[in-house]
Amino acid sequence: MEFRCLAVTPAVPGALKETWTGDTLVVGLFAPAAGSGRALAQELVGEGLEALLQRRRFEAKPGQTITLERPGGSPASLILVGLGDPADFGLEALRQASAEVARSAAAAGAVELGLWLPVEGLEPAAAAAAMAEAVRLGLYADQRFKSEAEPSSLPSLVSLLGVAAGAEAGLAHVAATCSGVELARRLVAAPPNKATPQSLAEEAAAIADAFGLELKVLERDDCEALGMGAYLGVAQGSDLPPKFIHLTYRPAGEVSRRVVLVGKGLTFDSGGYNLKTAGSQIEMMKYDMGGSAAVLGAARAIAEIRPAGLEVHVIVASCENMISGGAIHPGDVLTASNGKTIEINNTDAEGRLTLADALVYACGLEPDAIVDLATLTGACVIALGEEIAGLWSPSNGLAEALLSAGNAAGEALWRMPLRSSYKKGLKSHIADLKNTGPRPGGSITAALFLQDFVTNGLPWAHLDIAGTVWSDKARGEDPAGATGFGVRTLVAWLVAGAAS
Ligand code: BES
Ligand code: MN
Ligand code: ZN
Repeated sequence: MEFRCLAVTPAVPGALKETWTGDTLVVGLFAPAAGSGRALAQELVGEGLEALLQRRRFEAKPGQTITLERPGGSPASLILVGLGDPADFGLEALRQASAEVARSAAAAGAVELGLWLPVEGLEPAAAAAAMAEAVRLGLYADQRFKSEAEPSSLPSLVSLLGVAAGAEAGLAHVAATCSGVELARRLVAAPPNKATPQSLAEEAAAIADAFGLELKVLERDDCEALGMGAYLGVAQGSDLPPKFIHLTYRPAGEVSRRVVLVGKGLTFDSGGYNLKTAGSQIEMMKYDMGGSAAVLGAARAIAEIRPAGLEVHVIVASCENMISGGAIHPGDVLTASNGKTIEINNTDAEGRLTLADALVYACGLEPDAIVDLATLTGACVIALGEEIAGLWSPSNGLAEALLSAGNAAGEALWRMPLRSSYKKGLKSHIADLKNTGPRPGGSITAALFLQDFVTNGLPWAHLDIAGTVWSDKARGEDPAGATGFGVRTLVAWLVAGAAS
């Protein structure tokens, strides 16, 4: 799928025919339907437009679409999309509308698709990026696990019509970013008998080979030598060997900024001896490697974009949380690689144990910032629901930068408190700390647990993506299933940080 920006001069309907000759045209209409879209629709439909809109009860509500087939006409399909009240129209509404019409257009068999959406009030490059990403990501479909693929066709060329000069610049990172999101979605959606620690390591190797990155995979022995008792404690109940993945992007010239991305990589979380029960989503716990999928997706995108001055390390301490005679017991005490001892009062709080050793390792790389992403707590899903990820950071600068990257990328983050008094919930009588605090504020104590494994003063942020990693229903640019959440925020944050 290719994207281009087409300036239509003058920016009036009559001039469109001279510039663009695709088969499917999308026209956005505000409520009440006025503006340039209205004139264009009028020109193509003719006198009957008003009656037609009334008959179809088209009120230009956000997301409302009508497809008009025009056999033999040019364009052969016209899709009208409602954009709602112009006062509420922004990048988010533009993304929603673009994803929505992309699906209608694909259903209409669009090959050369044109989008005429009123983006005059928006920053041109940001609007172009939002439209292109939403079209591509909204049309993503995964048929790997069907014996027979359902027929589907995608438009080959998408033209953003009538956008202002400068919009083209917004398309520069779209393909790389979307490839990263799609990779993350594929990894998350793959079932736990396919996506294993080994296969994640192979994915990392494929990225390294394709884009010339460095890859180090630490085996169980290597991790033992580094004293990673917390991570290995989780891994010991599984028949599959753990794989500690360290992928590195180095820029061509000098390095001015070094960043580490850490992703939770539990390819399945049964809960261990604190076994997950009915209603705990155990059958969905393949997505417990969503953090690792996001950081690998971001690595793939960054490797293609190749920002100057920025060094990026991606760390995944991957394993499964299973039950066996060799699995950890509730009550065991483990020692992490920074020497801290942890009483395991709940084997289902395993993600933080793997992240503890991953964070200690990350700090050893002496970076300027660390960001971890994890499907860490059900409590975060209760707090923020499925559309918003939690963000914890002791650094206001890093928190602000991530919030603004999320905003630009169209992924919602909400900053949550690292309230230090809640740390008493993690007090242990026998070890330095317990791995699980009380139920209230469960996502906060989880973040506080992680903070114990980050070198004091090092800018660190934690994103809990337990709610956002998966979407049961299609929503905006997310089709039903794995969302690839986090990739776009990370790429936006890394690219902005490289430039500054
Ligand atoms: N992977 C889960 C968190 C999770 C739950 C993600 C639901 C997505 C949906 C994590 O390992 C876990 O089990 N957390 C426990 C922690 C508790 C034992 C303190 C939880 O949230 O219940
Ligand atoms: Mn768990
Ligand atoms: Zn988990």
